Amino acid sequence: MEFKLMTTRNQNVPMTYFLRKTALALLLLSSLAACKNRKKEQPSTLIKVDPKEWVDEHTLSNADSVNVKHLHLDVTVDMANKQIGGCAFWTVANDHGKKELILDTYELTIDSTLVDGVKVEHRLDGVIKYLGSALHIPLKETSTTVAVYYRTGANAKALQWLSPMQTHDKKYPFLYTQSEAIYARSWIPCPDGPGIRFTYSARIKVPKGLMALMSARNSDVVNDSGIYHFKMEQPIPAYLMALAVGDLEFRGIDERTGVYAEKGMIDKARWEFENVGRMVGTAEQLYGPYRWGRYDVLVLPPGFPIGGMENPKLTFCTPSIIAGDRSLVSLIAHELAHSWSGNLVTNATWNDFWLNEGFTNYFERRIMEQMMGAQYADMLWELGYQDLESTVTHLGADSRDTWLKLDLKGRDPDDGLNDIPYEKGCHFLRLLEKSAGRDRFDKFLVKYFDSHAFRTVTTETFLNYMDTVLIGKDTVLRKKLNINEWVYGPGIPTNCPRAGHELFGKVDADRTKFLAGMDPKEMTFVNWSAHEWLHFLRGMPESMMPSQMNQLDDAFHFTTTGNSEVACMWFILAIRTNYFQAYPAMERFLSTIGRRKFVEPLYTEMMRAPAGEEMAKRLYAKYRQNYHPLAQESLDEIVLGKHH
Ligand code: BES
Ligand code: ZN
Repeated sequence: MEFKLMTTRNQNVPMTYFLRKTALALLLLSSLAACKNRKKEQPSTLIKVDPKEWVDEHTLSNADSVNVKHLHLDVTVDMANKQIGGCAFWTVANDHGKKELILDTYELTIDSTLVDGVKVEHRLDGVIKYLGSALHIPLKETSTTVAVYYRTGANAKALQWLSPMQTHDKKYPFLYTQSEAIYARSWIPCPDGPGIRFTYSARIKVPKGLMALMSARNSDVVNDSGIYHFKMEQPIPAYLMALAVGDLEFRGIDERTGVYAEKGMIDKARWEFENVGRMVGTAEQLYGPYRWGRYDVLVLPPGFPIGGMENPKLTFCTPSIIAGDRSLVSLIAHELAHSWSGNLVTNATWNDFWLNEGFTNYFERRIMEQMMGAQYADMLWELGYQDLESTVTHLGADSRDTWLKLDLKGRDPDDGLNDIPYEKGCHFLRLLEKSAGRDRFDKFLVKYFDSHAFRTVTTETFLNYMDTVLIGKDTVLRKKLNINEWVYGPGIPTNCPRAGHELFGKVDADRTKFLAGMDPKEMTFVNWSAHEWLHFLRGMPESMMPSQMNQLDDAFHFTTTGNSEVACMWFILAIRTNYFQAYPAMERFLSTIGRRKFVEPLYTEMMRAPAGEEMAKRLYAKYRQNYHPLAQESLDEIVLGKHH
């Protein structure tokens, strides 16, 4: 049977129609194949997608047809009143003679707008749920600049304002942004879609004594005036706009890499990230030059809701990866890898999110393989496969949300995001690598990044490019891959590669023996890595005796582990088994760490446990204020049953 790559680019066609069409096409193709006796290979008929034809359902902006070129952001950060205000100054070229420029805004107050220095009458539409309000600014054909004077709202979703108590050092307030997926509009009036790129510069005024950092060229010292200047010469989409303000210090790693953190954290962070300089070199050897100048990492205060964010030139990350033994640096490999997959070649819409995250997960594991060896990487692959399986089980094996090509129309992209784009995405790429051969696949990827640099790509653009450049006349390969099933079908296709499980054989054997009564001190392990411990705990049954937990703790000190992934899994088991001894440590964990990946499962587990609900409510009442607004939103639902 031949492959026909289908596209969902016509977003107005209802899903049922598309499914019917798919079923029909499949039927037709299979009957064709049957009567032709498969003698003659038909050329694959690919639907060519004009890159301009896609529709991004999550922006109200028309900047794709106005040509927005550059942003100069001139704002003051008012830490006391928790507000950013000033001017977003856009340079445009009205190439298509549009009557207006439409920008995305979310709860922004617009004070005035000027076009080419002259005040104009703007219009701010009503709010469309999570999309916010479209800001209409009248344009002339000759207009070249648009200035928007504005202030942020009290519930700006991108902003987390921390009181001194919520920081690591507890001395100064802190602000950071998290713009992905569609929150840039809550702190900058902008065309907020991944398919629209612009360069930027900024002048940011902050309270004297604090340091300001952006996803741009940064300074490494505090300046006395409190005024910081930034430049980002490479065009980026709005979701990569980022700002952090706090009492920060810098330590270099090598000439082009370094780390920023609060003073009390900087030495630990510098030690943890010792190999980040080498990591950039490793990534370059794999997929071509790093095109962003410097690569620095900013360690945020503990309430950061995610693990890491690939803000260009300056990855933002959670302090929960500072394990004290460098066991969680693969997260930095991941954010660094986005400098190619995501920041350089960007998903055109959030439906194509796997192009960002699946590629990046694949790339991350290739970097880790290079730096730590194949065994280390294969364990990451296996743990990832387990995540994929449990996500598919959770969503349902035929759930539409398990396709690689997502359909987020009518939904907040944040709600539609789970492990599928990451893990199904990277396993698909691993299949491509295994089937085409590593050399051939790597050469293809270098070419792909190079030829699509600073551009946006839909799933269909990628598939067509791959069909021409990687597969070409190799019909055997094309058949083997089952691309349609991966991209436009649910669940885990049968040709999904899986390797690495046998690496955990010893771990499984020891777990089995322990559960059968063996003293953990007699286990055969030698120097297990965090991956092995994680796998060891993941495989524990729901029902264990507190005494068994006690035995494990005595032997391996899980309650005091510095590895947050292992700690989280251990606390989940503690809740399930009423292992009270771990609760004080768990409370400390929940009081500081706000990473959704950890706090959401822990509170969920408590709510499921017979006596846990009371504990969940008590802890949440105490620590809610430490969590990011987005984490609060989901935890309000988990713990308080409140829907936002
Ligand atoms: N770009 C993502 C974070 C993100 C995704 C923010 C979607 C908002 C919406 C980032 O690169 C990421 O994937 N972070 C992961 C870590 C990674 C090792 C899987 C995280 O935060 O857990
Ligand atoms: Zn990512």
